[in-house]
Amino acid sequence: MDKFVIRGGNPLVGTVRVSGAKNAALPAMAAAILTEEPVILENIPDVRDIQTERNLLVSMGAEVELGYGRAHHRTTICCKNLVRPEAPYDLVKTMRASTLVLGPLVARFGRARVSLPGGCAIGARPIDLHIKGLEKLGATITQEHGFIEASADRLKGGQIVFDKITVTGTEDLMMAAALAEGETLIENCAREPEVSDLAALLNKMGARIEGAGTSTIRIQGVEKLHGARHRIIPDRIETGTFVVAAALTGGDLIVANCDPRHVGAVLQKVQECGVKIRANGDSVRVMGDNPLTAADLSTEEFPGFPTDMQAQYMALATQAEGASIITENIFENRFMHAQELVRMGANIKVEGRRAIVRGTTPLSAAAVQCSDLRASASLVLGALVADGESIIDRVYHIDRGYERIEEKLRSVGAQIRRIGEMLPKRAPAPLAAV
Ligand code: UD1
Repeated sequence: MDKFVIRGGNPLVGTVRVSGAKNAALPAMAAAILTEEPVILENIPDVRDIQTERNLLVSMGAEVELGYGRAHHRTTICCKNLVRPEAPYDLVKTMRASTLVLGPLVARFGRARVSLPGGCAIGARPIDLHIKGLEKLGATITQEHGFIEASADRLKGGQIVFDKITVTGTEDLMMAAALAEGETLIENCAREPEVSDLAALLNKMGARIEGAGTSTIRIQGVEKLHGARHRIIPDRIETGTFVVAAALTGGDLIVANCDPRHVGAVLQKVQECGVKIRANGDSVRVMGDNPLTAADLSTEEFPGFPTDMQAQYMALATQAEGASIITENIFENRFMHAQELVRMGANIKVEGRRAIVRGTTPLSAAAVQCSDLRASASLVLGALVADGESIIDRVYHIDRGYERIEEKLRSVGAQIRRIGEMLPKRAPAPLAAV
């Protein structure tokens, strides 16, 4: 298990480039199931979750070609000969987004077997809304031995109103409805940019989807979809993480290759804390020369402040003057990073869905442990301003969603190094038999 060693104190200065969005790439890869022709995806981030999705598609019989050299971020997926429409527990438990194959599999093959995801570090994460929606489209769903089994001759268009806004649920059903017979109307949809990006890809594949990016999506089902080429949008969470990192370290950083329209709520909040921001086309310049001041925060669905940026913001709040109240509205148990930040010297009190962070507190280096993807990012950020050398353990969590974060941070002045697990001391040689 790799670790990061980080010596805090350096402001981030220079230019850092954002990779493609993991959360847009995952549904795009699942969308390839909907056609027997190849789907070519560009700007795919080189992160662990993408490898997991690739393993999942390959285990079903898909051909997945990864680009190399200059085409390093391109992948070509051909699902002509899928033989096993199944997502096994081993893969689903490491990545919940594996459930995104459910809708496309039933839509194209009339059956799917997908392991139930179970709990995860940030709370119970059911998929009941995906299931209810598929039933509305005519699928028969049973549950046995920890698996969801779905079947249908051909899905039929229907009307779905989500009880709660769900990002992957919206994506799953949009993919299923693309091949259903007739029209589907989905209401109370997620409006995240990743949903719009998926709709753009599906429309290139011949789907007829309108309204993605709003809360009502209308889909006219088609008989068949074809191959397409598509470039994945930049990662808005990676963008936000670098913006916060620059603000926190008092740096002057250009976050390049991003889409500032996708990070409006994050930029606004960071500005509220006293940071100067200049957004320009596809980059954001962050100038952190003023002292930080506290600001309250509530996570919301897009276009509100993303839950995936809450942990990073908490690291920033430890260095802001005053009390910041952070309210987590999307997930029930998403403050695992708070206790680790407290071990570094932060003053944070968690009360149910609220955390009260009092700053400014000097952070001091400590050995800390990652618990989930975004929590890990907040520990890296804390360590960037901590006095001394921190050791961050279990960085495989961060590798799930950030492409070589240590190299990117080092290139703009951070002192960060990855170390592999030390080999155990050599065991004494066995005694010779007598
Ligand atoms: C996606 C993102 C994740 C982000 C989250 C919220 C991907 C691959 N992951 O996750 O990074 O943190 O959106 O922005 O895109 N819920 C139900 N029943 C369901 C589905 C969801 O009750 O069937 C609940 C969840 O428990 C949660 C809320 O709805 O409380 C939102 O979850 P959802 O939007 O579905 O998150 P994901 O799509 O899993």
